[in-house]
Amino acid sequence: MPVSDVDLYTEEARVDPYPIYEELRETGAVVYLPRYDLYALPRYDDVRAALTNWQTFSSARSVFVDPLMNAQLEGITLCSDPPDHTALRSVLGRPLRQDRMRDVTPRLEAEADRVVTELVERGRFDAATELAEHLPMTVVSDLVGLPDRGRTKMLEWAAAIWNVQGPANTRFTEAMPVVEEFLAFAANDAVPGKIDPGGWAAHLYQAADRGEISKETCPALMLDYVTPSLDTTILAITNMIALFAEHPDQWGLLRADRSLIPHAINESLRLESPVPQFSRVLTENHEIDGIPLAAGSRVALLYGSANRDGRHYPDPARFDITRRPSDHLAFGRGEHVCVGMHLARLELSTLLERLADQVARFETLSSTPLINNGLRGLKHLEVAVHRDTPAAA
Ligand code: HEM
Repeated sequence: MPVSDVDLYTEEARVDPYPIYEELRETGAVVYLPRYDLYALPRYDDVRAALTNWQTFSSARSVFVDPLMNAQLEGITLCSDPPDHTALRSVLGRPLRQDRMRDVTPRLEAEADRVVTELVERGRFDAATELAEHLPMTVVSDLVGLPDRGRTKMLEWAAAIWNVQGPANTRFTEAMPVVEEFLAFAANDAVPGKIDPGGWAAHLYQAADRGEISKETCPALMLDYVTPSLDTTILAITNMIALFAEHPDQWGLLRADRSLIPHAINESLRLESPVPQFSRVLTENHEIDGIPLAAGSRVALLYGSANRDGRHYPDPARFDITRRPSDHLAFGRGEHVCVGMHLARLELSTLLERLADQVARFETLSSTPLINNGLRGLKHLEVAVHRDTPAAA
């Protein structure tokens, strides 16, 4: 069994995990990390095979790192297996289905128009807090439909919930009281009568009234909406702007051919995956590349590493929007593939369309990384935008 003492949770590794990922991919198809008692899968083929075999790679004993947190979150959609998962996901995913995106498109387009026009006019802004946060914070938080205090605290709560998805380090410990505050809010305040009757949160209680899920699970299921619906997309948008600032040639290609937008979204998610890993627990003894793993082992699926595996993507660190990597694993795959991906893609493409209309070039002025146990990307990205000169326009 290949073993490594690398630590994926130091500040340095949260900022730049890629040298560690490369080392792990070279070390083996499975690498035991004794520090966290995790068996890491760093290569593309193995991560993909695990994602599409839930019978062996189970989510029912949760998908995080810390044993106590894993025990506490069993049973939410993310941390369940079929048939429970199938029932939960069909309720949770209803407002997020592709055919429901038509309902939100006009609002997203209007907000994207407004924010892009205003920021481009200013010429300089924080692409993380002023651009990327805008659609999730105005439209998506509204769709969830929490009472006002909940809406304003959603980002803080979500960041804390992501922090407790790592090992019990300082980030985890400091986040715990914030997570508890959210859980109390979900149980006492995010309830019928106080939530928007047309929102996603209310829709969970309506499904419980119809007997599709149990009412007791509704507060915990709120986690499935509150945790992943904002920061993931905010980071994806910010990462994308940073990549285009660094690669003006690729921005030129996208502006010249808008049909490249979906590929640009996939390529930036591949290269800078906002959710670098989740885990699974083996339900039976299993062998990977000749290495035996015992039933009960917790296996870390390193999406961020798989997406940069040179065995699957030639010249993997190159940002190339003509690559068309629609098989990337940034949204996971299989039973638990991101249920919000249609919404995330819609937000990303709506913004890219508006930016492509108005921006000739992005220039990064400064950036600050986000340090979080469960997410990766930039907390701030100060950019200047350059417009077309009238002659070129
Ligand atoms: C670019 C943005 C996003 C990224 C990178 C992302 C990433 C992921 C990943 C990797 C998974 C797989 C979990 C696993 O393998 O166990 C996942 C699942 C999930 N995502 Fe997303 N996500 C994004 C946006 C969203 C949005 C906007 C929502 C909206 C509510 C959302 C809701 C969920 C939920 C509920 C699950 C659990 C699905 C299940 O267990 O069946 N995500 N996401």
